[in-house]
Amino acid sequence: MAAPVLILDETDSTNAEARRRAEAGEVGPLWIAARRQTAGRGRRGRAWDSREGNLASTLLLTLNRSPAEAAQLTFAAALSVADLLDRYVPPALVSIKWPNDVLLDGRKSSGILIESGPSPSGGLWLAVGIGVNLAHAPQGTERPATCIAEHLRYDVVATPSTEDGAKVLAEAFDVWLERWISLGFQPVLDAWVARTPGLFGPCTARLSHETLNGIADGVEADGALRLKLPDGSLRVISAGDVFFGETA
Ligand code: BTN
Repeated sequence: MAAPVLILDETDSTNAEARRRAEAGEVGPLWIAARRQTAGRGRRGRAWDSREGNLASTLLLTLNRSPAEAAQLTFAAALSVADLLDRYVPPALVSIKWPNDVLLDGRKSSGILIESGPSPSGGLWLAVGIGVNLAHAPQGTERPATCIAEHLRYDVVATPSTEDGAKVLAEAFDVWLERWISLGFQPVLDAWVARTPGLFGPCTARLSHETLNGIADGVEADGALRLKLPDGSLRVISAGDVFFGETA
């Protein structure tokens, strides 16, 4: 059964709220969603635009797994966001870009930020933070962004509210979490690969200290991206901004 969803009117960041609760001994599972975030966090220290009408939510849970294993849930999170989008827009418009950007009509529509730490009661607490642009797309972003409202399917009457989005996301994530717990990572990775075009072809990877151009050659068993460089060597990339079929 999906974890309960707590809806807050406002918080600094649902990931920060999950961290505070985890460090105080709360184990979850609990979804914390907010109508507004005043200090939404993105990857690589970026801010996350969190206007009212969008979805900002974090699943707090505690696992007896290593941080590396727990990081596999980033793939489950991307699949869950794709499932959420499928409910409201033409599914043909939905795709995943390595490692966890879910695109709508080729544009960013959501973001995933997973944080973790040692739980005071043992195990590892995990904050699976997910932002989805339901009603608004941020302007002036480095790469174009979009939102569900811009692509609503003809048979969908209205853009989902924060509450609706949070509930649908919690249900979708629960399916992938159960699959991961009972069957392991492989079926999750296989489903993710099936929704992720561009894993084989020209690719630019912008890492923290360098930018690499090469040919993507699929993913490793843990989901890390294989990139063949012009000198024939192989780089395995676990984190970074990646652009497929283009030069960044
Ligand atoms: C990205 O940079 O793509 C990741 C963005 C993650 C945003 C979500 S919104 C809910 C949760 N709370 C945060 O402060 N960040 C994540």
